[in-house]
Amino acid sequence: MARFLLASLCLILGIGVCRSLEFNGHNPYFFEDSVFLWNVTLESSEQAVEFFQQHISVYGELTAPGAERDICFYYKLPMALFTGGAWREANAVMDFIKLNFLQEDGDLRTSPELKTSSFALNEYYPYTNGWVLIAALRMERFDIVRPMYAYMKKYFDGFPTNGPTEDGNTNTDMFSAAHFGLVSLYMNDMKTAKKAAQTILKILRKQPDLDDGMYLRMTGDGQLITEFDAGMAGFYVVNKTAEYQLHFMEGYPALFLIRLYEATNNDCYMDAAKAIISWARECNSQMYQFHYTHKLGVAMSLLYRYTEDRDLLLDIDRVAALLKISQNADGTYLSYDDNSYADIYDQSAEIAVWMRAMDANDYYKIDINDEATKPVTPLTPP
Ligand SMILES: *[C@@H]1O[C@H](CO)[C@@H](O)[C@H](O)[C@H]1NC(C)=O
Ligand SMILES: *[C@@H]1O[C@H](CO)[C@@H](O)[C@H](O)[C@H]1NC(C)=O
Repeated sequence: MARFLLASLCLILGIGVCRSLEFNGHNPYFFEDSVFLWNVTLESSEQAVEFFQQHISVYGELTAPGAERDICFYYKLPMALFTGGAWREANAVMDFIKLNFLQEDGDLRTSPELKTSSFALNEYYPYTNGWVLIAALRMERFDIVRPMYAYMKKYFDGFPTNGPTEDGNTNTDMFSAAHFGLVSLYMNDMKTAKKAAQTILKILRKQPDLDDGMYLRMTGDGQLITEFDAGMAGFYVVNKTAEYQLHFMEGYPALFLIRLYEATNNDCYMDAAKAIISWARECNSQMYQFHYTHKLGVAMSLLYRYTEDRDLLLDIDRVAALLKISQNADGTYLSYDDNSYADIYDQSAEIAVWMRAMDANDYYKIDINDEATKPVTPLTPP
């Protein structure tokens, strides 16, 4: 409550004051007036990509300190390197992944016996596959696209969260549905993309109390899952009032729905994305001090292309600033004191992609202090 009052007060007093309080004065970027937004996210991404570039062997092995031969260290690297202009290293890593992790059936596993030592990536089993598949598409690595897509399609029936499919899991969730939906958009499989969106919309329609939280998962026969082990709560619900929530859980669906809107011009997808983002922006503002808000930040930056809501800028700015503040001198993100190497490399590769995505979404054109400067004429579909 105190924080809320402080924030409201600061809004009246002016943005700079509010932000310096919110970030305890750690942010060196806020006071550079209108240039804060320009180029910062792109340059930050470049530093992260450079770190990886310097730690990839000619055989595509990650040689950074603490790196292990586990898919959890590799699956986001091709996308970060390729979008960052390091096609050579991206290709080498793809070769490494193909040689070491790609299975006969098109699945990705650290070994035939082990998916990965990462708990979360075992739980969201096909998530690693999607990152590599989408990067392979962008890189024209059709040798990898074909077997991996054939495997991924096994999940398109009910978009199960868990895998492998032989285990017969039928529970789904809005984050996984968004991931499968995005893969389908890349493959121009509109039927599956729309089905993924319907799964997300169905989960949204079943919410009992959005003032409390947003439940994420649904059983195969369409029942919202509201009971779970307390220790696993982060995988089942985004709590509206609590701190340290995983806001990528609804941020990714919002991002996917806007992409689907762009593909279809169907307002219902945009309306759903707007509803998710409005809801998220009313959550505990501690989310702007937690890096897992990254996908939501990207979704907001994409939404800004279609609105004139300048308030949205403040929140995009807070996400981008937090990520920038969390960058280490070597270009990686997240503190070496508090995070494992696996998490640091995973998040660094991902944040490198999202910082660049925000930049690409016209973020660099925005002058937040100048009401007259619009990032773009808000786009309208043809
Ligand atoms: C941002 O980068 C562009 C392209 O390199 C450059 O022309 C521009 O001056 C930069 N803007 C700022 C504020 O640094
Ligand atoms: C959200 O968190 C609050 C306080 O931390 C708690 O009382 C409430 O039950 C939680 N709601 C959900 C849906 O988890």
